[in-house]
Amino acid sequence: MINIVILAAGMGKRMHSDLPKVLHQLAGKPLVNHVLTTARGLSPGVLCVVYGHGGEQVPARLAAPDIQFVKQEPQLGTGHAVQQALPFLNDGLPTLILYGDVPLFKLSSLQEIITAAGTDKLGIVTINFDNPTGYGRIVREDGKIRTIVEHKDATDAQRAITEINTGIMIMPTAKLKLWSSKLSNINAQGEYYLTDVIAKAVADDVEIVSAQPEFEWETIGVNSKKDLAELERLYQRNQADALLENGVTLLDPRRIDIRGDLHCGRDVTIDINCIFEGEVTLEDGVQIGAHCVIKDAHIAKNCHIKPFCHIEESIVGAASQIGPYARLRPGAELAEEVHIGNFVEVKKSQIGAHSKANHLSYIGDATIGQRVNIGAGTITCNYDGANKFQTIIEDDAFIGSDSQLIAPVTVGRGATLGAGTTLSKNAPAEQLTVTRAKQISIAGWLRPVKKS
Ligand code: UD1
Ligand code: MG
Repeated sequence: MINIVILAAGMGKRMHSDLPKVLHQLAGKPLVNHVLTTARGLSPGVLCVVYGHGGEQVPARLAAPDIQFVKQEPQLGTGHAVQQALPFLNDGLPTLILYGDVPLFKLSSLQEIITAAGTDKLGIVTINFDNPTGYGRIVREDGKIRTIVEHKDATDAQRAITEINTGIMIMPTAKLKLWSSKLSNINAQGEYYLTDVIAKAVADDVEIVSAQPEFEWETIGVNSKKDLAELERLYQRNQADALLENGVTLLDPRRIDIRGDLHCGRDVTIDINCIFEGEVTLEDGVQIGAHCVIKDAHIAKNCHIKPFCHIEESIVGAASQIGPYARLRPGAELAEEVHIGNFVEVKKSQIGAHSKANHLSYIGDATIGQRVNIGAGTITCNYDGANKFQTIIEDDAFIGSDSQLIAPVTVGRGATLGAGTTLSKNAPAEQLTVTRAKQISIAGWLRPVKKS
C-alpha cells in the first residue's frame, strides 16, 4: 500500500479563468477527477489532495470520505505543496506524488514505477521529449540520475538534455519528510522545488530508479485552454479507437464524444456527431443515427435511434424505433418494439410493448399498456400548475389525434378516443369516447367584410 498526494493548488494563470485549473473539464469530468480515478485504482492507504488557488471550490466539488484535503496558502512551489500534506501521511508507506493537471496517466505506468521503487528506493517517471523546453531536466552521470534542474535554472548544456521529469515520483515517506524539511527557495523562480529532493536522495545514498510511460500523451499537462482542447481530442480519439477495436462501427471516429462510459455490444453502429454522457449501454445490433445526445441510458438489442434524438435517464426496450427528433426525458421506460417518432417527448412514463406515439406528442407521468396507438398531437395534461397527476392508458387503446388527457384519468382496455377528445373523466374499456361538439354546417353564411 502507498500514500498518494495529488498536487492541485496551482493557479493555472494561463487558463484565464476564475475556476481552479484542476476543475476544468476533460470528457465531462474535472481534470483532477481523472487523476482521482487512477489514484483510487491503486487502493491507497492515504489519499491527499493539496488545494489552494480558487478557495474552497476544489474540496466542495470533490468531497468524498476517502480524500484528505490539505490547503496550501500561499502557493510557494511543488515542494511547499507536498510539505503541507506531510502530517497526514503514513510513515510506514511510500508516498506517490501525482499532479491534478496531468489527467491521463495510465494505471499500468504508475504501477510500474511503484513496483520498481519498492519501499526503500526513490522512483521517478521520466520521458524523452524532442522539445523539452519548460520541463525539469534529468541530469545523469554514468547513467545514474544525480539531480533535476528546472528549465529556468538550467545551463545551456543542461537545456540540451531531452530526458525530462514528468512530475510523478514515489519515495519512502520518512525520507520525503526529512528531505523536504531541507528545501530552499533560492532559485530562478523563488519557489520550493520538490525536484530538489533528488539531489538529497543521492547525497543520502538512496537508490534512484526510473521508468518511462507507455505513451507520451500520458504525461501531457494542461496549462491553457488550447492544451485542454487538444487533450480532449486526444482522449476522444483514444476512446473511439477502443470502440473500433471492439468491433463498433463508427462512421467517423473523429466525430464522436464520450463523456463517461459507453458500453457497446456486437454490431453496434454509430453515425457522426453523437455525444454520450454518463453511463450508456448500447446492446447488440443497436444503430444510432447522426447528431444524437444520449446520457445515462440503456438501449436494448436492435434498437434504431434515428438522427437528432435526445435521450436522458431512460430505458429503451429491444427493437424499438426512436426519432428522428424525439426526446426521452428522465424516467422514460419503454418495452420492446415501441415506436416514438418525431417531436414526441416522453417523461417519467412506462410504455408497453408494441405501443406507438409517432408524431408531435407529450407523454408525461403516464403508464401506457401494450399495443396502444397514440395519435398525432396527443398531450397528457399532467400538471395543474401545482401538482402532477398520472394518466393510465390500458392495453390496445387507440387515442385519436389531437387529444388532451386531463390527469388523473384512465383510458380503459381497448377503448377508442375520437380525434380531438378532451378527456376529463375515465374512458370505459372497449367503447368509443368522443367529447367534441357535433359538426354542423351553416348554409348561406357570409364572411365579414371590411368597413370602408
Ligand atoms: C513541474 C516540475 C518539473 C516538471 C514539470 C512537469 C517542480 C519544481 N518542477 O514544473 O520538473 O518537468 O512539473 O509538468 O516540481 N502546485 C501546487 N502548489 C504550488 C505549485 C504547484 O499544488 O505551489 C501543483 C500545480 O497545481 C500542478 C503541479 O503542482 O498540478 C505542478 O506545478 P507547475 O507549476 O505546473 O510545475 P512546473 O513548473 O510545470
Ligand atoms: Mg506544469
